[in-house]
Amino acid sequence: MNLKEFIPRKVAEVQKTVGAGKAISALSGGVDSSVCTVLAWRALGEGLKVIFIDDGLMREGEPQEVRAVFGRLGIEVEIVNAQAEFFAALAGKTDPEDKRKAFRQTFYSVFGREVKKSGARFLVQGTIAADIIETKGGVKTQHNILEQIGIDPEQGFGFKVVEPIKELFKPDVRKVAKALGLPESVTRRMPFPGPGLMARVLGEVTPERVAIVRAATVIVEREIKKFSPFQAFAVLLNDMGTGIEDGKRKFGHIIIIRSVESRDAMTARATPVPWDALMKMSRRIVKEIPTVTRVAYELTPKPPATIEYI
Ligand code: XMP
Repeated sequence: MNLKEFIPRKVAEVQKTVGAGKAISALSGGVDSSVCTVLAWRALGEGLKVIFIDDGLMREGEPQEVRAVFGRLGIEVEIVNAQAEFFAALAGKTDPEDKRKAFRQTFYSVFGREVKKSGARFLVQGTIAADIIETKGGVKTQHNILEQIGIDPEQGFGFKVVEPIKELFKPDVRKVAKALGLPESVTRRMPFPGPGLMARVLGEVTPERVAIVRAATVIVEREIKKFSPFQAFAVLLNDMGTGIEDGKRKFGHIIIIRSVESRDAMTARATPVPWDALMKMSRRIVKEIPTVTRVAYELTPKPPATIEYI
């Protein structure tokens, strides 16, 4: 990819597609949507409204951090609190695909509402090549793929989708991010799925269960950072495991630590995390999250496993 050619070409394409109209950017803070937001900002300036949907499934402090990073670039981010709507849509759902579909439906109806309110007719989003390949291939329902699977967003939700980086894979997205002047906290950010911590809570997704995996994620990200994995996170299983507290039997949650090395997320293998670091994460998780009684490290490569658990 030729960066010098790619950036102006994409800026011009967004300008041409949106014209004098208005667009909304769906910013999550990940490198994909951050790149799209800056490209669209360069193309449209004040014609772009940047929205961050707080779905209650983000990592610790994420909405505030994203707003601060973009604030420093002179791009204003509006945070829309839709936590209650997402948790209501997910209540009682345990099947992974049902959860993904409920997330997608809620995501687009919240966005559809915001787009209507703002008078925008376009939604700019950071779909990348791997998302399209996996959804078309039937691996899973990515929340951000609509047209590729035959859903018309204009008919269903009232806007057209603009996807400026849909032909790129992650390493190229990172190069574009750097060239656009995004800080290292964004360009080197680990991938984080659109449906957020929902992808890491097996079984029902409730605020309480998300809080457990969020707390474990803080510990895993902190302790594993020095090994610079492609992606590392915590997962909450749907089963419980027996433990001991004050000489008594205690039934508690099970957390899995997943850390993988990969180039483009299409294949992956477990990070050879040193034993001491694994032990430290395990100790910290059971100590700091007392409802957890067990921690395990996941070894399976992709394939046959996927990186995320749902
Ligand atoms: P899997 O689990 O399929 O994940 O091996 C491959 C990469 O994609 C991320 N991922 C997602 N990203 N929406 C996204 O934007 C999703 O629904 C989604 N599911 C998985 C995952 O974190 C990994 O980097």
